[in-house]
Amino acid sequence: MNTASVHTNWNAHLYDDKHSFVFKYGEDLVDVLKPMAGERILDLGCGTGYLTSIIAASGATVVGIDNSLEMITKAKAAYPAVEFKVQSATEFYFDEHFNAIFSNAVLHWVTEKEKAIDCMYRNLKKSGRLVLEFGGKQNVERIVTALKSSLLKHGFAENAAIPLWYFPSLSEYTGLLEKRGFRVTYAAHFNRDTQLNDTENGIKDWIKMFGTAFFKGIDEAVVNEILEEVQQALVPTNYRNGQWFADYKRLRVIAIK
Ligand code: BEZ
Repeated sequence: MNTASVHTNWNAHLYDDKHSFVFKYGEDLVDVLKPMAGERILDLGCGTGYLTSIIAASGATVVGIDNSLEMITKAKAAYPAVEFKVQSATEFYFDEHFNAIFSNAVLHWVTEKEKAIDCMYRNLKKSGRLVLEFGGKQNVERIVTALKSSLLKHGFAENAAIPLWYFPSLSEYTGLLEKRGFRVTYAAHFNRDTQLNDTENGIKDWIKMFGTAFFKGIDEAVVNEILEEVQQALVPTNYRNGQWFADYKRLRVIAIK
């Protein structure tokens, strides 16, 4: 998956049913955003629109964008009073600029990070703010390590080397923002072990939802073997009291244009 395809191939129903933790944690980030009536706000990578609708409830005018037509279709049906558009994180453009750009759990999909930062800069008003949270350095490292080691063991070195995600350190990302002209007023890199919804197949479900690109060209039977192997390898570290956890590390940033 690349920049141009954030959320593109996702199953919007599976996303809402089994991976709702993605946007539920984002409610906390809306509190950081502090949207106000009269403001114009962009929700970058809005998925099925849950957080966009919470921002809209503040009285702000909000636009949600996502590269997935399926996500945007579902968002429009669920929240008909809110504006949603299919647009890419690296190429979006609006005539009327924003007081704030908000993005939760999206920017780790955007490997063309400088393009996304430039786009955010150009679409913000002067003194406008960015409120971002996404996977930082060492995010889901145990899952990724187990998955890559299983792919290698089965002879899929090319698959294991696919650069699917961008998990920067705090200094790398804030440096890129400063280079483009932002003033970073807050940045934190913290652990957030996250309980997965399915008690039996939590890790397998997570990989099937987010990591299918690693399985390009691999037979389904072998994929299932790899999934089983990865989940078993993670029992000692990611399974506690009958629940599966993903070892998330979040990067949260506020910056001003
Ligand atoms: C995350 O939210 O950190 C994440 C989600 C899907 C794939 C990779 C990371």
